[in-house]
Amino acid sequence: MNATKTIIVTGGAGYIGSHTIIELIETTSFNVISIDNYSNSTEKTFDRIELITGKKIRNYQIDICNKTELERVFEENTHIVGIIHFAAFKSVGESVTDPQKYYFNNINSLLNILDCSLKYNITNFIFSSSCSVYGNIDELPVKETTPIGKAESPYAYTKQIGEEILKDYSKANSQLQTTALRYFNPVGAHVSGLNGELPLNKPNNLVPIITNAAIGKIAQMTVFGDDYPTRDGTCIRDYVHVSDIANAHIKALYLLIENKNKSNFSIFNLGSGNGVSVLEAIAAFEKISGKKLNYQIGQKRDGDVVAIYSDNSFSEKTLGWTPKYNLEDMMRSAWKWELELSMLE
Ligand code: NAD
Ligand code: WQD
Repeated sequence: MNATKTIIVTGGAGYIGSHTIIELIETTSFNVISIDNYSNSTEKTFDRIELITGKKIRNYQIDICNKTELERVFEENTHIVGIIHFAAFKSVGESVTDPQKYYFNNINSLLNILDCSLKYNITNFIFSSSCSVYGNIDELPVKETTPIGKAESPYAYTKQIGEEILKDYSKANSQLQTTALRYFNPVGAHVSGLNGELPLNKPNNLVPIITNAAIGKIAQMTVFGDDYPTRDGTCIRDYVHVSDIANAHIKALYLLIENKNKSNFSIFNLGSGNGVSVLEAIAAFEKISGKKLNYQIGQKRDGDVVAIYSDNSFSEKTLGWTPKYNLEDMMRSAWKWELELSMLE
């Protein structure tokens, strides 16, 4: 039993969850409990969190799809005031080849944790959504009010469905306040370089590919297409530092706890607001690392949208959130983390 106000973080051993735990420890007095089955992470994350913050976090190694096990967490811990639900599978490509894995895990885990939220009267709930809910759209930058398009993958569809579930649950249960945070492209690592992205699966996102190529884990990287209708022919994305994303969760949590949301279901974009091309991202990396990247121009990747970046004005105004790290900070911290990993191996 713990009398301190507690926040449950699901997926706390993962990339964004671990950075959010660090932010919770460093900027709040909440007790933090994680639930993570290590399906895409390991228990070593908690050693890294301890190294940075001096705090040992308790993790329940259970599958959130198992409701009986999940309820045990809520039976054993009183004074839970909020839930931040990160746990999900996130590989867009894998969700196309194995949709059942994604629908099963991402939807069941959300339903179970929401049921616990209702059963144990935990009224503040934050959900990891994604810019992928917007689909392929022409109107840029995207606002929260931009009509969402057709999901381009089962993964993206689980986020669209997830948001609908939150909306319906909040409508039917007026005490339940939910917030969906739509992350754009979270990248980088903790400024110390002691915690960063370390998935069990092979990385396929741009920034880990860049740092992997620079350190020699992969011989050469490929830029997927250079004849898009953009300023340099490569795709445009909105990269945002993972610690800025983490910080937005704290702001969203306080807004819920202090009952300051206008409605009991809210959506916020979390991006930098800047569109950056693949070649600009590579150039930023080369500048901060002093290394020349070995890359080739290859075929376009199936399913890539040409350009997407966020309008952050609603998050700025309502959450009081603006990202503090720029593209070079993102690359510098990602590179520091890659160098740290190379020393550990
Ligand atoms: P991650 O894979 O690093 O972390 C997710 C964690 O959840 C992992 O540690 C995994 O072991 C755990 N997990 C998954 N299913 C579980 C289950 N059923 N029970 C218990 N634990 C489970 O991913 P991340 O990058 O930290 O992403 C966190 C959330 O943010 C996800 O919901 C993801 O869809 C969303 N998101 C991520 C990005 C991104 O680019 N990283 C962008 C937009 C949205
Ligand atoms: C970025 C750019 C690639 C690798 C994904 C998900 C999205 C969200 C964020 C979860 C693209 C190019 C990449 C490489 C390259 N995640 N690229 N060579 O596709 O914008 O978004 O992560 O919700 O849902 O789809 O991110 O990092 O894979 O790609 O040229 O080896 O880098 O074509 O233009 P993406 P990404």
